[in-house]
Amino acid sequence: MKVLDKEFELFITADVINENVIKLAKRIEEDYKDKSPTFLVILNGAFMFAADLMKHYKGECKVSFLRLSSYEGTKTTGKIKKHIEAENLENEHVIITEDIVDTGNSLEYILNYLKTQNIKSQRIVSMFHKPDAYNKSYPIDYIGMNIPDKFILGYGLDYDGFGRNLPDIYQLKTS
Ligand code: IMP
Ligand code: MG
Repeated sequence: MKVLDKEFELFITADVINENVIKLAKRIEEDYKDKSPTFLVILNGAFMFAADLMKHYKGECKVSFLRLSSYEGTKTTGKIKKHIEAENLENEHVIITEDIVDTGNSLEYILNYLKTQNIKSQRIVSMFHKPDAYNKSYPIDYIGMNIPDKFILGYGLDYDGFGRNLPDIYQLKTS
């Protein structure tokens, strides 16, 4: 499949993604039985994952959004830009909700931001994680799937803005 100038191939089907989202929702639900967490969704990429995760999450919860950007094309720029401020998170049990943790630069930015917000607790859920690209040491509490250090597309993740609507995950072809 071609998106802009690059070729991608099917990597993870929507069915497999869905099974993992359900498992994540159940695990979080179990851990937050007596709390009402706030899912802090990191836009743009996490919008699709967050919607699916919350549909399967049966406990009491809230949602808030933070919009960051760091990628240009298929490479991270390393510089994070914040475009949208989340609501007041004071006294909330925050669950940072990410599409993917790659280098961890965005995660570090978010954790620093949360330090200033007087929240009650924080955990991290990410649908995908690239352990080989991760250069931080913050533990990621809930991971949907670990994947190799290769650029992916679909299920909210984009290549220069395109491909976010694809229900399956595609991987950049390297041949
Ligand atoms: P990190 O700061 O390097 O951990 O990556 C942060 C953000 O970059 C993620 O939340 C994604 O939105 C985006 N990103 C990382 N890896 C990929 C990828 O393989 N495809 C598309 N976007 C990605
Ligand atoms: Mg993201």
